[in-house]
Amino acid sequence: MPRKIAAGNWKMNGTLEALSEAAGIAAAADDVETVLCPPATLIAPLASAAQGTPLRIGGQSCHPTAAGAHTGDISAEMLVDAGAAYVITGHSERRTDHGETDADVRAQTEAAWRAGLVAILCIGETLAEREAGETLAVLNTQLDGSLPDGATAANTVIAYEPVWAIGTGKVATPAQVAEVHDALRARLGPEMSLLYGGSVKAGNAAEIFALENVDGGLVGGASLKAADFVPIVAALAAS
Ligand code: PGA
Repeated sequence: MPRKIAAGNWKMNGTLEALSEAAGIAAAADDVETVLCPPATLIAPLASAAQGTPLRIGGQSCHPTAAGAHTGDISAEMLVDAGAAYVITGHSERRTDHGETDADVRAQTEAAWRAGLVAILCIGETLAEREAGETLAVLNTQLDGSLPDGATAANTVIAYEPVWAIGTGKVATPAQVAEVHDALRARLGPEMSLLYGGSVKAGNAAEIFALENVDGGLVGGASLKAADFVPIVAALAAS
């Protein structure tokens, strides 16, 4: 059975004040693997606040190399040092804002494994690609280019995040999610956790998590406040 995972992606949100939200989330993290990926500045304080709780901490990206002359970048080893157990790779905002390619995402994912992190590797189609009927082909191409050989259920989680559903309030329909997740399951095997991301909220989480091949969610906006995220964690635990 794949592990159920509720992962929160805080993106570029949160200052020290947000630690109180994390405390509320940690208290609810018992039943399913719950992960928060805060901005890099909060990884160490959040990891130390979460000590002794089941809450796990993740980074939002990592550089392929362990150290060196890369101003502004953070390595997977540094994320581990700060207390992270996970890192997101290939998020569509990184692909767009920083021009990250599938090859970059592959190198980052390999770096994550080298450091002992679990990679949450994101893939997703744009609206134009979906409307052109290319969704599954696009996702397969992204996996061909970005998922390194040696991926296992222990070192990798896949997050399907349709670009048009991220931060837009437009959630994919259960049929759209099921079609993709069934194809991912057929390709990636029975054990790998497959998360859906894109406007997951308390109001739609149960319906999405009820789908056979959805093992959890990667949640942006609705992970910032415990009052929004805790019901999503609970919906996953009940699924
Ligand atoms: P959203 O973001 O839940 O705010 O749509 C999801 C993500 O980008 O991981």
